Amino acid sequence: MKLWGDKWNINAEIESFETKDDLIIDQELAPYDVLGSLAHAQILLQQSIITKIEHAKIRKGLKEIFHLAKQGKLRLNLGDEDIHTKIESYLTEKYGEVGKKIHTGRSRNDQVLTALRLLIKDRLLSVEKEMLSLSNNFIEFAKRYQFMPMPGYTHMQKAMPSSVGMWSASFAEALLDDLQVIQTAYRLSDQSPLGSAAGYGVPIALDRKLSAKLLGFAKIQNNSLYCQNSRGKIEAVVIIALVTILSDINRFANDILLFTMSEFSFFSASPELYTGSSLMPQKKNLDVAELLASKVKRVLGNYVTVVTTPLNLLSGYNRSLQDIKKPLLESLNTVLDCIKTATLLLANLTPNEENLTKAITPEMFAAHSVFQQVQKGSSFREAYQQISKNLNTVVLQDLPIVLRNSKNEGSTGNLGLRKLSTQLQKEVRATGKKRRDLDMQWSKLLN
Ligand code: ARG
Repeated sequence: MKLWGDKWNINAEIESFETKDDLIIDQELAPYDVLGSLAHAQILLQQSIITKIEHAKIRKGLKEIFHLAKQGKLRLNLGDEDIHTKIESYLTEKYGEVGKKIHTGRSRNDQVLTALRLLIKDRLLSVEKEMLSLSNNFIEFAKRYQFMPMPGYTHMQKAMPSSVGMWSASFAEALLDDLQVIQTAYRLSDQSPLGSAAGYGVPIALDRKLSAKLLGFAKIQNNSLYCQNSRGKIEAVVIIALVTILSDINRFANDILLFTMSEFSFFSASPELYTGSSLMPQKKNLDVAELLASKVKRVLGNYVTVVTTPLNLLSGYNRSLQDIKKPLLESLNTVLDCIKTATLLLANLTPNEENLTKAITPEMFAAHSVFQQVQKGSSFREAYQQISKNLNTVVLQDLPIVLRNSKNEGSTGNLGLRKLSTQLQKEVRATGKKRRDLDMQWSKLLN
């Protein structure tokens, strides 16, 4: 039985077309929809729309659904429509009349928005945790190889001497920037749409602030119509935030692909990271880096799907918005996978000091020679022209000294690793607190 009654007898093929994606995706959404329903039930009790006994039955049923979903045992079949319909039918089938009361004052439109926001918050906190751990590993790698020489390139041509420390710490810092974008996406998602109903509110008093608080939202999203109109917009911000992480992982993976080529051999990866070829017995392929580099392209595709889905729709709910769920979930899951895999890749990399050092050739000190002349009183341009005419006079300088003496902020001798670590630890504590607070709120609802 559909929530919209039996007056329409929907064609089975049409129904399958409309719902078959949801039957799978909504299994992942289920625990969050249960949380939303638990909060809603509590509001109904507070308003005496249901009795204490009814409330207890509803809670029992909802918790059963939660555990079924967590164990992967909640199956949605053709006819179940979506998780929202499934929850009500489950309650009605198992607990009778009370099941028919849970939907008082809500719509699937605010229900799905609420469940999605909870899922996003949950996943983004995992993303934060994993990206901070990856960033920390880049800092550790930078510390370990702080002054190991590494050629610096511009235009893919050798430029100036640099260090493995600088290379590695650049990714640590990048991830801390990405974290700010993730936090913005988190804040936007941290608003409760519950109680906005179909998009036009309800004529009964439902304590929206309380349901928001019960679910661990920072605040309510006020305007009922805007709640619906923000669907897709906020998800697009979430995905573009994920893209910033994947862009950095793309750069890391591409660097590694080049630097592990036999022609470079700047780094080697542990044997367990390689795959072979079905035809060429000698092959050693670093597929993991190739796939890490490519994921940003897929997720950007998801971004385009999600950011364009709400375009040209009339204000209010439109069924097209349903198509946002799959690319959103895929993006969140892909990014979590990628961060964990990039962490493994980094843990299995060893820089090759000999090759790295050998690759730093005398001409790379040309700019240093210019600066030395400037220190002796020449103008920069004059010194530049002088060195440029006599490039053969430029010689290798003592690398450890050059790298350590580059003391300007952000240079090889002053990477600011300690400051970076402090900033990272602060973020680790903040993320940990958000996670504990959210878990506490949710377990209160469930217990
Ligand atoms: N599966 C739907 C979605 O994701 C749930 C909301 C359906 N609302 C409706 N009025 N048909 O959008």
